[in-house]
Amino acid sequence: KGPRPLEGRTIIVTSGPTREPIDPVRYISNASSGRQGTAIAEALASHGAIVKFVTGPAEFAKPRGCEIFPVETAVEMEGAVIAALPADAAIFTAAVADWRIAAPSDAKLKKDVSGTAPELDFVANPDILATVSHLPAGERPALVIGFAAETGNLETHARNKLARKGCDWLLANDVSPGSGVFGGPDTRILFLDGTATDDWGPQSKTAVAEKLADRIAKHFAAGS
Ligand code: C5P
Repeated sequence: KGPRPLEGRTIIVTSGPTREPIDPVRYISNASSGRQGTAIAEALASHGAIVKFVTGPAEFAKPRGCEIFPVETAVEMEGAVIAALPADAAIFTAAVADWRIAAPSDAKLKKDVSGTAPELDFVANPDILATVSHLPAGERPALVIGFAAETGNLETHARNKLARKGCDWLLANDVSPGSGVFGGPDTRILFLDGTATDDWGPQSKTAVAEKLADRIAKHFAAGS
């Protein structure tokens, strides 16, 4: 049913939040629902791609027709992405925690009778998108696509991020409070490549996923 222009292409998609442990029962995470990543994975699969879906613990984490690799932490997510290579394209939709707790406790932290709150030391997590973007030719997927969630100065931040991360395309959206983008069904994407910026306008995350899958198919069909 319908053409499958991405037949034979392997595409990695990261999605959802990561979960960084404090102790065996507590963690730091974020409100990513996995909606956009799941929609992208399903759109790519319906275009015929072999989709390797690396997901943190999210409400939406079961795209149809994809190989699913569940992870918890950013370090695990990086390992799963590297293990899923080689790939023709990689799309980084996940909201990865920027920091993890340096030394999570093996035992549940106990309330101090004196009322003193614990102090947590953080270390930076690996930046998976930047790592994959900077892999040597031959290991690097031909097309590396990042996302950016910002709360203002969208285009400036997105243009800087595209350069800093070293990816080919960047899809930026404004997730300011009241926008409903985080967790909601709709978004508004500003699409950037090396030369142009394109406002895709307000639409559903499934429409964004279809548009992105079509664009990826055209990119590969053009042989660039
Ligand atoms: O720097 P920032 O988190 O805003 O960048 C967003 C983009 O980078 C997203 O595509 C996200 O999936 C990716 N990212 C990543 N690993 C990180 C942080 C972000 O892959 N540690």
